[in-house]
Amino acid sequence: PHPVKLAPSLLACDFARLGEELQAIQGADWAHVDVMDGAFVPNISFGLPILAAARRASSLFMDVHLMIQHPERYLRDFAEAGADGLTVHVESTPHLHRAVQQIRELGKKAGVTLNPGTPLEALRPVLADVDLVLIMSVNPGFGGQKFIPSSLERIRTLRRWLDDLGSAAEIQVDGGVTPQNARAVVHAGATCLVAGSAVYGPDGAQAGLERLREALK
Ligand code: DX5
Ligand code: ZN
Repeated sequence: PHPVKLAPSLLACDFARLGEELQAIQGADWAHVDVMDGAFVPNISFGLPILAAARRASSLFMDVHLMIQHPERYLRDFAEAGADGLTVHVESTPHLHRAVQQIRELGKKAGVTLNPGTPLEALRPVLADVDLVLIMSVNPGFGGQKFIPSSLERIRTLRRWLDDLGSAAEIQVDGGVTPQNARAVVHAGATCLVAGSAVYGPDGAQAGLERLREALK
């Protein structure tokens, strides 16, 4: 089987040292970039200029998670600022299919995601058209929250749907992922783990990343 991708979330890093914090995760697969608009989610994180700065500082795949209303307004801007993959929420637009198409037309990896309270069925219409499905295992808006246990069942269901379709889309999981639960998440069918606070801890991101890798052995 494919090795599991690790995608540290920059939301938990020290923004004053963004370049070094990206260096510290050079051994990761992707950098996860959480964009929050204070409207779709009750928090504002950062936007285009920070993504552009991260892009200049690192050659990692920039995996951009858009927690913003009507993301189709900004897809081109995020692509031009350096995103390699763009993930949109099913709840954030009435034109999900169009948003996915637009990401594809921009030549980027297209991802869809949904909040823990949204039925998985909402993904079905675009499932065959995406490169990645993100299962949110916390309510989006903040780092450092606890993993919602029922997410495991959602990962298993999605794994079946993708297998039935013959889709090789990535199953990414985001929120409360730790060395303690990482194996269970992968066992349920995840192929890519996002981790913020578990990576950017007090002893540095390299150590945090190493602990996650160890937990998956
Ligand atoms: C939550 C974000 C996550 C968050 C994860 O809204 O989408 O990517 O940074 O942080 P942890 O790993 O600390 O739960
Ligand atoms: Zn995220």
